[in-house]
Amino acid sequence: MEGQDLHPSEAPDEDDGISGVVPTASVANSGPEVDSNDNDSAIDMFSRPSSTQSVRASIYDFVEEHGRTYHNFHSGKYLIPNDALEKDRLELQNHIWKLTLDGKLHFTPFSTPPQRVLDVGCGTGTWAIEFALQYPSAHVTGTDLSPIQPNYVPANCVFEIDDAEEEWLFTEPFDYIHGRTLMNCFKDISTVFASVFKALAPGGHFEMQDGCMPFRSADGTLDNTTLLDWCHKTLEGSARVGRRWVDPRNYKVIMEAVGFVDVVETRLKWPLNTWPRDKKLKELGMWVREDMMEILSAVKKVFIAGLGWSVDDADAFVERAKADLMNRNIHGWIDIVVVYGRKPEAL
Ligand SMILES: C[S@@+](CC[C@H](N)C(=O)[O-])C[C@H]1O[C@@H](n2cnc3c(N)ncnc32)[C@H](O)[C@@H]1O
Repeated sequence: MEGQDLHPSEAPDEDDGISGVVPTASVANSGPEVDSNDNDSAIDMFSRPSSTQSVRASIYDFVEEHGRTYHNFHSGKYLIPNDALEKDRLELQNHIWKLTLDGKLHFTPFSTPPQRVLDVGCGTGTWAIEFALQYPSAHVTGTDLSPIQPNYVPANCVFEIDDAEEEWLFTEPFDYIHGRTLMNCFKDISTVFASVFKALAPGGHFEMQDGCMPFRSADGTLDNTTLLDWCHKTLEGSARVGRRWVDPRNYKVIMEAVGFVDVVETRLKWPLNTWPRDKKLKELGMWVREDMMEILSAVKKVFIAGLGWSVDDADAFVERAKADLMNRNIHGWIDIVVVYGRKPEAL
């Protein structure tokens, strides 16, 4: 203990008081005395996290596969990563959507601004944040499987980790529910649309904005390309793992079937690169090409898990599809659907 400045009370006790004493069986087996006073708040100042807190903590333990991370809450449902690359892609796609819709966040015509708003599968939450800023009197909730939303958001915007395929437990009805690029998220989109219908107040609106697969071309230049094959293989692999992509061109019919009225559909196009002459479409094509460069490899898990391909085979396939994407002689596009409808006032 030389050189150490120990306070007398911290110094080891040289005389343990039991030296030379042969313990009796009862002394050897006795443990520390029990404190019958359970209310010593000075010592028991830490509380164990509640079960919901530990669930919250575990949702940040993302699943890692082939150099990407995936959501852990209800793990395995959504086959696209949730890492920094994907978050950047979603930001780029948000820009593409705004360019496509001429800066609008919605096509639904509101007679009065909606007060309770839900964004299902909100991703990085950018749409929800922008909607909250545009409508300061609204309270906007964004839900997603992945906790990838920012911490600093407008006071009228909150995010919750929630699975839209489970029973919806919101206690107050919404005036407007929105969903964007969710075509590959749900096993049964009708069930999710029915949950939306139920969660809306009478007269409330629902709007979906989405892209369709497979890609198309008018002049046959997409035929027999790896890019088109990528669409078919993605659809096939996803279906095999039980996550079939929906065709958003069917949204209108599905919305009407669950009870929505005055359903209005608009169809638009995202060129796959800069091939169109039209200035706006050319600019869109430039951004869509960058978005697609990333998504082409982001779905790799579908080829590996769904089609049984090796990582190397999947990588080589994606590289060939990327080369097609860069080829301006291939005049492909993605069909875009924006559809909104209203829950009737009187049911
Ligand atoms: C392509 S991203 C779109 C994100 C956002 N809507 C946007 O447009 O930027 C799809 C999102 O849906 C989420 N998602 C997938 N399945 C879901 C589910 N069952 N419940 C809630 N969110 C889900 C994913 O985690 C992902 O963030």
